[in-house]
Amino acid sequence: MKPDRQPWGARLGVRILLAAVLVLGVGALTAWAVALAVGPAIFHEHMLMVETSDPDPEVVKHAEEAFDASWQLSLLLALIAACLASVLVSVVLARRITATLNKVRSAAIRVAHGDYGARVPEGAMGAEFTEMISAFNRMASELDETEHTRKQLLSDLAHEMRTPVATVDGYLEAMLDGVAAADSETLTMLREQTDRLKRLSADVSLVSSAEEHRLSMETHVISVADLISVAQGQARSSYAAQDVALQIVQESDGARVLGDRDRLSQVLTNLLDNALRHTEPGDQVILRAGSDSETVFLSVEDTGHGVASEHLSHLFERFYRVDTARDRAHGGSGIGLAIVRSIVEAHGGNVRVKSGGLGHGALFTVGLPRHN
Ligand SMILES: Nc1ncnc2c1ncn2[C@@H]1O[C@H](COP(=O)(O)OP(=O)(O)OP(=O)(O)O)[C@@H](O)[C@H]1O
Ligand SMILES: [Mg+2]
Repeated sequence: MKPDRQPWGARLGVRILLAAVLVLGVGALTAWAVALAVGPAIFHEHMLMVETSDPDPEVVKHAEEAFDASWQLSLLLALIAACLASVLVSVVLARRITATLNKVRSAAIRVAHGDYGARVPEGAMGAEFTEMISAFNRMASELDETEHTRKQLLSDLAHEMRTPVATVDGYLEAMLDGVAAADSETLTMLREQTDRLKRLSADVSLVSSAEEHRLSMETHVISVADLISVAQGQARSSYAAQDVALQIVQESDGARVLGDRDRLSQVLTNLLDNALRHTEPGDQVILRAGSDSETVFLSVEDTGHGVASEHLSHLFERFYRVDTARDRAHGGSGIGLAIVRSIVEAHGGNVRVKSGGLGHGALFTVGLPRHN
């Protein structure tokens, strides 16, 4: 509800003014009562102490009347002046407070209508107002960022779905028109595309759950050596098929981590898949496990294609691919490393990448809290 549509007495400015008038009214009455009770009595006593043996009652009466008139008039003028001054100060104060609140209110209404760029300028109304305004601005920028990510995700997702959906659609139409036969080759192709869509939806759902801290995990104490040997077992045949050597360096010293076995295996599988995808026959990949007193390190290093430095900081973003032509040819959506980061962070760890540049291989290192 707009403040000017609020009942008159409910407005903050009016309330501040009324409060000031009330405080001043009570103060004035108190001052008047005290002056009335104390002043004339003291004056009267002083008159009686005048050094004449028998003061003239007529003189005393006049003097007291003169005293009464003068204190009453002075006090009245002083109170009127104080009243005017305080009303003036209250009006100025109330206007400044309501002006600031109105700015926050208008910005909040803009945010509520989806304009997340709305910000409130910081004024000089005191620490509490500055804190409220900066908290509001922070909230607006976070909403802005979330909205940006949401739009980006939707457009990336639509883009990723377009190719498989168009392929499936094209084949189905050709089969309906009798141009293509529903033979096993076509059906396999269709199956591949629907698998790709299924994987895409599972991957996006996993990353979204992790980012919203809703990733379901079955947490156990896991030996790092076990994780390494499971990952090695899973990768062995595909590495052998592409003639890429997979070397294991086990220096984890019996270290253990607290986490979800399947999800941590998925981290290593994604890194090993990527390494294989970006190496040539004859290249080498090293899967290494190490630890210090607090952290377990798992790294995958390859001697393959490498990554140019300008791409390094983007690799963990959803749907980011460096060489779109080659990576798309592999059917990847550029979400594998986003999954790696989400899972690792859900375990309280971090993941980094280094590369000496194109043609100089890449090194991905995962750090996880060691379980002692
Ligand atoms: N070991 C590596 N060497 C060189 N480039 C790499 C390596 N690992 C990842 N990349 C680059 O990082 C990009 C993002 O990797 P990510 O795993 O997220 O996606 P993807 O492998 O293309 O697809 P997906 O994992 O979803 O199947 C890749 O497209 C590739 O360009
Ligand atoms: Mg990948």
